[in-house]
Amino acid sequence: MDLDKALGLIAEVPDFPQPGILFRDFAPLFASAEGFAEVTSALAGTLDEGVELLAAVEARGFLLAAALGQAQGLGVVMVRKPGKLPQVAARADYELEYGRATLELPAGVVQPGQRVAVIDDVLATGGTVAAACRLLEQAGAVVSGVSVVLELAGLGGRDALPGRSVRTLHTS
Ligand code: PRP
Repeated sequence: MDLDKALGLIAEVPDFPQPGILFRDFAPLFASAEGFAEVTSALAGTLDEGVELLAAVEARGFLLAAALGQAQGLGVVMVRKPGKLPQVAARADYELEYGRATLELPAGVVQPGQRVAVIDDVLATGGTVAAACRLLEQAGAVVSGVSVVLELAGLGGRDALPGRSVRTLHTS
């Protein structure tokens, strides 16, 4: 399966999770072994040389980073929604397209100086990825870049990530 066809498996669902939001549903893509493999392979091409660890943003970023990490021989640190981690290194609150949210980084996983790539499914306002980058840097990591499957144009995601190397597979 080629990349365009794989990305075409991402469904668009209007008015979820609230009216006016066009939700990008990755479930059909993840359910396709070929589509998922194609996207994983394309994401591999977005990683900087020297990356030592992948940071996965809950929840869909977990699947992408796990597949990518296994394919590339890289481990994964989970950047989680609040209340899930037994030991928290740092917490960041941020604005979402629809509301507020919080992310937490586990204690004792990221090493100071480690080069980390942030992996997620969608870049919208950029608030989520910006928060993940802040958490990693608070832990002493070096964020080498951000790799996202789908960038939603017009929501300012890149503006929220000034100076960062942001690579996306598709913009819509
Ligand atoms: C979605 C998506 C990104 C984030 C992008 O996460 O998976 O993480 O929003 O939005 P932003 O660029 O405006 O911050 P969601 O909170 O819906 O979580 P999920 O993956 O757990 O469904």
